[in-house]
Amino acid sequence: MQFADRLNNVETSAIRELFKLLGKPGIISFAGGFPDAALFDVDGIREAASAALTSDPGAALQYGATEGYNPLREQLAAFMRAKGASVAAEQLIVTTGSQQALDLLGKTMISPGDKVIVEGPTFLATIQCFRLYGAELISAPIDGDGVQTDALEALIAEHRPKLVYLIPTFGNPSGATLSLERRQKVLELAVKYNTLVVEDDPYGDLYFDQAPPPSLLALSDSVPGSRELLAHCGSLSKVLSPGLRVGWMVAPPELLGKATMCKQFSDAHTSTFAQATAAQYLAAGRLPATLAKVRAVYAERAHTMCQALRADLGDAVTFVPPQGGLFVWARLSGVGGKTANGNDLAKRAIEQGVAFVPGTPFYANQPDHATFRVSFATVGTDKIVEGVKRLAAAL
Ligand SMILES: Cc1ncc(COP(=O)(O)O)c(C=O)c1O
Repeated sequence: MQFADRLNNVETSAIRELFKLLGKPGIISFAGGFPDAALFDVDGIREAASAALTSDPGAALQYGATEGYNPLREQLAAFMRAKGASVAAEQLIVTTGSQQALDLLGKTMISPGDKVIVEGPTFLATIQCFRLYGAELISAPIDGDGVQTDALEALIAEHRPKLVYLIPTFGNPSGATLSLERRQKVLELAVKYNTLVVEDDPYGDLYFDQAPPPSLLALSDSVPGSRELLAHCGSLSKVLSPGLRVGWMVAPPELLGKATMCKQFSDAHTSTFAQATAAQYLAAGRLPATLAKVRAVYAERAHTMCQALRADLGDAVTFVPPQGGLFVWARLSGVGGKTANGNDLAKRAIEQGVAFVPGTPFYANQPDHATFRVSFATVGTDKIVEGVKRLAAAL
């Protein structure tokens, strides 16, 4: 068949290929990017679904507005206001996962050949999605404090990108948190260079000990002009359930209008049943308790993983312990003649009975082959300890 030219820019995710190997019995997997299904508040979601069908069955089962189910938009706006962002319901649209918000941004903003700056490394699906629209991706370097803003400014000045895509809080895969100072700088750069900044924030609520700095969205009020150049994507996937497919996007009115138009041609609207269920769940006030529970579990697992990596891999790896989210991003040092290649280690690790994702696919360009990502989210602490031992044996 003669497929569209745009498919020439993308290939199947290397991670999905790796997942095919995970069927091996007894394997401990640090490879996923999923929340732990054992932590889903099944009772709460069952009650919310039942309440949605009882209180407003017509709305929950009928076609709905493309912008989203209004009671949910109200709840999501209140959720963000509680975190310091001044958001009204009409300033956001509900999307089918935040993944759709990223797709709508690609559709509305990116023409073939447009330059887009992303972090190196960044979320793989964003790389693929933006490439599908023909973006030429440019990677900005990161460290433990997120994107390096001096380098980012130099890249923006040189390339004048259509947009800058960042995951400022507990990034995937980096686990990094952009410092407050750099957040302010990013917003200033948006204004200085009149560049759209996309803040992708599915992990910000999953902090361990203390809340991260305010989102770019919350800070944008303090940097005049920046709110008009900011799109913010949120999601219930990592805090409540990815199967609901409820995400959202806050953006300037003109961009929101175009994205809504594109969504009409895409899926008409996000499942009204899922939206009504989510609205009931949030209105019942259950999210804070759910968040407290998942934060505590992920914090313990993250701590266990970092301790085990230090104890068993020693100076063979370097990493910055994450302050939240689902991932530890590590780099092989190659000391003592041990491997410094994440792809090689991933293959050897499977033989030892442990899986993780090498870092290479997370780079839009200039990959650092020594990197890899391990997720502690779905593995109990005993298995984490055992899995890291197997990883050490694979070195
Ligand atoms: C950085 C980032 N953005 C967006 C998504 C998409 O999430 P969802 O579509 O489930 O909201 C993910 C999921 O892994 C992610 O890691």
